[in-house]
This record gives sequence, C-alpha cells and structure tokens, in this order.
Amino acid sequence: MKTILKLENVTKKYSLGSTVVHALRGVNIELEKGKYYSIVGPSGSGKSTLLHILGCMDLPSTGEVWINSRPVHCLNETQLTKIRAVELGFIFQSFHLNPILTVLENVSIALQFLGIGKAAAQERAREWLDRVGLDHRLDHYPSELSGGERQRVAIARALVKKPQFVLADEPTGNLDSKTGQEIISLLRKINREAGVTIVQVTHDREIAEMGDEIISFRDGRILQ
Ligand SMILES: Nc1ncnc2c1ncn2[C@@H]1O[C@H](COP(=O)(O)OP(=O)(O)O)[C@@H](O)[C@H]1O
Ligand SMILES: [Mg+2]
Repeated sequence: MKTILKLENVTKKYSLGSTVVHALRGVNIELEKGKYYSIVGPSGSGKSTLLHILGCMDLPSTGEVWINSRPVHCLNETQLTKIRAVELGFIFQSFHLNPILTVLENVSIALQFLGIGKAAAQERAREWLDRVGLDHRLDHYPSELSGGERQRVAIARALVKKPQFVLADEPTGNLDSKTGQEIISLLRKINREAGVTIVQVTHDREIAEMGDEIISFRDGRILQ
C-alpha cells in the first residue's frame, strides 16, 4: 500500500467578526493510492472544508498536509496553484463548465493551460470524451447538454491531465438518482482502470457505498 494523502492534526477555524467557527477540530487521515473514498456527514460538519484542504484550495489553521510524502502546508499560493493545475482533478456539484466553450474545448483547455499544444490537447480530450460516452457531443455547448452529460464533461476534464487524485464535492447533488448512480459507476470504472485515487463527498448513503471506504464526519472530526 502506498499513501497518497496524509493529514496530521489538521484544524481549521474561520473568524466571522467576533465569532470563531471551528470547521475542523483535529483530523488525522491517511489515504491509499488507487482507492475510492466517500466522505459522509451532516451539513456543516466540515466535509467541504476538508476537501478544500485536500485540494490545496485552502490551508489548515494548524496541522500538516502531505501529498505523496511532500509537505504542502508550508507552500505559498503560487506553489499551491501549480499543484492544483498540474496534479489534481476537481468535480463539482454544479459542474462549473465554461458556457462559451464547446464540450471539446472545455476539456482540452485544461491541457492547454499546462502548455500542451492545441492539436495534442484536443486529441487527448477526444479520447477522454470517448471514454465517458460523449464522442457524439464534441461540438455542443454545455447549455445543450443534460445534467448527466455535463457531469461527464467535468469528469473528462478532471481526468484528462492524469491527476494524482480527483476530488468530487457532491458530484451527484444536482442529478436525479438514476443519473447519479450512472455517474458514480463511471467514476468507479475509471478509478479501477486508471488507478486514480478518488475522494468524494456525498450525503447519499447509496452513492457513498459505491466506493471502497466510507469516512464519517461529525462536528469537524472523523467518527471512528
Ligand atoms: N469561508 C467560511 N467562512 C466562515 N465559515 C465557514 C466558511 N466555510 C465554512 N464555514 C463554516 O464551517 C463549518 C463547516 O462547513 P463545511 O465544511 O462547508 O461543511 P459541510 O460541507 O460538511 O456542509 C460550517 O459551520 C460553516 O458554516
Ligand atoms: Mg459541503
């Protein structure tokens, strides 16, 4: 087993005027490369905060974050931005596609940002769009797609750069339950075939159980 992500005594507090919100109260976890994790817990328990810290979008107040044995809690914003762009894939509840780009462009642009030429980027984007079953929608715009199709585009965009791991915050939150299960089945298949680690947040028990391991969260802590 190889550890890909490790948190040690991570806390996160937000100050809102004179009140302090303790979003994470000492989190210790070690995630294994290639596994599919589901984080579950009530609203406000700190799930998104945890995902933001795993995704280098935010730093902990105290504690340590390690990605592939590399300490990221002491990096600066420029270094964190680079890790996010190069090494991590993100999938959001509301898809976050660019409405003025086609399906193909939404995926290929992620590679062009990394300095890959347009033709090569589009070739790789086509391969991934084929894998997620959207080869017949390349020239469509997001507004012309169903919710499930939009999330497939987001999956292709997250995976096309061959990330170390993929983070998904409520990826089925805007989908009906049948479409949601299809999307998670697809992510599960990609997880197995490509060996990419996936961490998803969900409040849907059935969706959570489709992964390898469930991490239960309450009041900023992991329940044992
Ligand atoms: N940017 C922020 N500023 C202030 N408080 C925040 C911020 N983000 C989250 N919180 C608070 O931290 C707690 C955990 O939030 P969050 O991680 O979004 O929970 P979950 O995703 O489990 O619903 C909540 O009490 C929330 O109100
Ligand atoms: Mg949340």
